[in-house]
Amino acid sequence: MAGVTAIADLAADLAAATFTVDALDELWGTDAAAALHRGQRVPALRALEGRASGAAATATLARTFILGLASTPEALAAALPTLGFEGAVGLGLVDEHGAPRLDLRPYSFVDASGVVSWWIASDLGELALGHAIPEHHVLGVGGASTTLSGLMIARPVDLALDLGTGCGIQALHAARHATRVIATDISQRALDLARFNAELNGVTNIEFRLGSLFGPVPERFGHVVSNPPFVITPRGADGVPAYEYRDGGMVGDSLVASVIKEVEAHLESGGVAQLLGNWEYGAQEGLARVEQWVRFTGLDAWVVERERQDVDQYAETWIRDGGTRPGAEFDRLYSAWLDDFASRGVTHVGFGYITLRRPVSGGPTLRRFEVLDGPVAGSPDAAALLDAHDWLRDRDLLAESLTVAADVTEQRYYWPGDEHPTVMDLRQGSGFARTVPLGTALAAVVGACDGTLPLGVICSAVAQLLEVDEAELTAEVLPQVGELVLVGMLVGETGVSGDRAR
Ligand SMILES: C[S@@+](CC[C@H](N)C(=O)[O-])C[C@H]1O[C@@H](n2cnc3c(N)ncnc32)[C@H](O)[C@@H]1O
Repeated sequence: MAGVTAIADLAADLAAATFTVDALDELWGTDAAAALHRGQRVPALRALEGRASGAAATATLARTFILGLASTPEALAAALPTLGFEGAVGLGLVDEHGAPRLDLRPYSFVDASGVVSWWIASDLGELALGHAIPEHHVLGVGGASTTLSGLMIARPVDLALDLGTGCGIQALHAARHATRVIATDISQRALDLARFNAELNGVTNIEFRLGSLFGPVPERFGHVVSNPPFVITPRGADGVPAYEYRDGGMVGDSLVASVIKEVEAHLESGGVAQLLGNWEYGAQEGLARVEQWVRFTGLDAWVVERERQDVDQYAETWIRDGGTRPGAEFDRLYSAWLDDFASRGVTHVGFGYITLRRPVSGGPTLRRFEVLDGPVAGSPDAAALLDAHDWLRDRDLLAESLTVAADVTEQRYYWPGDEHPTVMDLRQGSGFARTVPLGTALAAVVGACDGTLPLGVICSAVAQLLEVDEAELTAEVLPQVGELVLVGMLVGETGVSGDRAR
C-alpha cells in the first residue's frame, strides 16, 4: 500500500465528498440499498442516473467503489481532487482506465461517544468482478462482522487481540477501548488492507502481525475478539475452493475447538474472549460438543446458539457465498459438502456467540450453554451477564431488594370471560428479548420487586397470600429469581446492574 500522505489525501477527499452512509441512503434510497444487500445493483444504478445535479462526487465514488463500475479518469479526478486520478491508481483503488480494483465504502455505528463514521476498503465482491471471488479474497464488513462488533464489550483494556482481522474492522472497534491492539491474519493482503483502513481512519494504536492463529502472539490479552474462519469445508475433495476469509483449513469444526483451547493461554486474569463459531450436530448435540471443548479449559463460558441449519442448507449457503451459481459445478460442490458431513455423521450445523473469561482467581464458575434463536432487540450485552453472574456469586439473594429492569414488561393471556390469566410471561425489551413463563408464585414475587423490600420478606408475604408453605415457595422461586437477575430482567439495589433499574 502506498504512502501515508496519499491516504490522508484520500481521507480528505472522501470527507469533502460526504461519502457517508447517510448520504448514500439519500442518494439511492433504502429500497435500492436493500437490493444491493441482496447482491443486485440495478436499482442503485438507476437512482444514480436519475439523480439531479449535485452530489456528483458522492455519485462517482458510489458508482466506482460500491457498484464496482468503471468511471472516467476525469470523473474520478473531479471526485478525488486532492488525491487525483494518478494518486488513486497509485493507491491501488482503480486501474489506469478508471475501473475499480478495491471496494471502498462508508461504515457507521453508534457507541457511547455518539455516531462514528469510517471508510472501509476490501476486495471487490462477486458483483463487481462478475464472477466467483478468488480464494485469497479479503472480505469487507459483513453480517457476521457487525454481529461481533455489536457484541464487543467496550471496557478499557491495555492490550486487545483481533485474531483473523481481514479488513481490520474488529481491530478498529477494539482500538476504541484498548490502549493497544494486535491484529493478526494468515493473509498478508488482509493485513495490508487492514493497515490501510486504520490509516484512512486515523487509528494509530493497532499493530499488524502475519501468522496462523495464536502463532504470532506470545502475549496475554485483556480482550480477544475473533470472527475466525469457522466455515466447515470439505477437505481432500478435488476442486473445492479454500477461501482464506472463511476456511481455516481444518476438518469439520476443529478450528473453533482449537481457538477455544488455545485462547486460555493468551488471556490475562479477568480477560475476556468473544468469538463467533460453527459447531456440528451428529451423534453428539452441537452445544454439548462446545461444552466438551470448554470443559478442558479453566475458563468461564457463556455460549449462545443463534441459528441451526441442516447440512443441505449449510452447503447451499456457503457454495453460493463464494459466488458459484446453480449448475454442474454447484452440484459437484454440493455433493462434496454432503460427503464430508456424512463421513462424520453430521446432520446439522449450529452458529453462535462464544464468550469466555479467565477467572481472576480460582476455577470457572460460569458454564452456560443456551439456544436463543429468536429476534434480538439491539445487541446483547455480554458484559452485563458476566457482571450479574459475579454479583450473584456467594450472595444471599433473600436479603437483597430487587427491582424489575426498565425494559421488562409482563404479558397476561386470558380465556375470554375468565377472571384469572391462563398464561403469564415476562418479556425483555432489549438484548436477546427473552420471554420467561411466570407461575403464580414467581409472578407475585416479581410484581412486588420494586426495590423496597428484601426478597425474603416478599417470599414470606406471597406465601401467606397464596396460603402455601413459605419454605417450599422460597425454594421454588429462589433459583428462578437468580436466573432473572443473571439475564438482566431483575436488578440488584447495589452493583453494576443497578443503573438498568426503572
Ligand atoms: C471471517 S474473516 C473475519 C474478518 C474480520 N475480522 C471480520 O470480522 O469481518 C476471517 C479472517 O481470518 C483469516 N484467517 C484464515 N485462517 C487463519 C488462520 N489460520 N490464522 C489467522 N487468521 C486466519 C482470514 O484471512 C480472514 O481474514
